[in-house]
Amino acid sequence: MSVTSIRLEPGGQQFAADPGQSILEAALAAGITLPYGCRDGACGACKGSVLAGSVDHGRARADTLSDAERSAGKALFCCAVPLGDVVIEGRVAAGVADIPVRKLPARVQRLERAAADVMVMTLKLPANDRFVFLPGQYIDLLLAGGKRRSYSIASSPSREGEIELHIRKLEGGVFSTQAFETLQEKDILRFEGPLGTTFLRGDSARPILMVGGGTGFAPLQAMLETLLENESPRPVHLYVGARTRDGLYRDELARRFAAASRTLRYVPVLSEATPDCAWNGRTGLVHLAALADLPDLSGFEAYVCGAPAMVDAARRDFAAAGLADDAFFADAFTTAAN
Ligand code: FES
Repeated sequence: MSVTSIRLEPGGQQFAADPGQSILEAALAAGITLPYGCRDGACGACKGSVLAGSVDHGRARADTLSDAERSAGKALFCCAVPLGDVVIEGRVAAGVADIPVRKLPARVQRLERAAADVMVMTLKLPANDRFVFLPGQYIDLLLAGGKRRSYSIASSPSREGEIELHIRKLEGGVFSTQAFETLQEKDILRFEGPLGTTFLRGDSARPILMVGGGTGFAPLQAMLETLLENESPRPVHLYVGARTRDGLYRDELARRFAAASRTLRYVPVLSEATPDCAWNGRTGLVHLAALADLPDLSGFEAYVCGAPAMVDAARRDFAAAGLADDAFFADAFTTAAN
């Protein structure tokens, strides 16, 4: 198979894909930043249209790209491999194109057990080498054997020289097991980033709805820190979900953020509260709690981070509540388990 040619409409940019290369990989290699998140067929951030030619949908998941969407010419560009020359339709993600993606070493500076299954890890970055990213982006830790694990950056870009990551413990998790059992302060890791096109849109005045499940709070924390630092006047409605009280591992910080801001409202929500939680707050699914309070989302901007099922449900239900297509930004945390 030879190199294929891809034309992106409506801009008309032309780029080439190597055999077996996905449309997204080929675009990024050509310096064209199409929107993307998980790069694994799970979040839908890279969905676009194939206007001419055909593609192999590869590992695209049926719940992210339905049969009806496939028939209508839709594709997940992170999975779709062109079968010959193609013309696609998609948006170029503004804002991140000029930020270089780099591979850097980092030293583990702090490991803090924030909950039974959450480790907050602070990485010290190389001195005199400014790592540029936007709040909401993520990095890939580069592990032994060519493995990678993606983690959102939880700290604001203004925290120079360090980044914070929130690691959730997963049964048999390649990096999380290491983080909880063997990793030590001063250990050296390598990472690549920044990655992803979900980041706080600073050029908008729209009120913001943030919904985070579990460690989906991490990218929201980076955005909140940035909004507070900039004394943003934008109203922010922050909904954080967990199964039980222990899962609200940044509850105190979120309360401090809300106390420090006139425009931030914080609502924690538990989906499986037990008597041990001694909980008299909101219960149920976190995105439904947000919708109960904000039934009309027209004019809003939404940032939703967490498990793919929550992100999918929020995308569907928020659109039904009037949220514009171009105002939904999501980071679906995919794991081997989901
Ligand atoms: S980036 Fe393609 S589905 Fe997530």
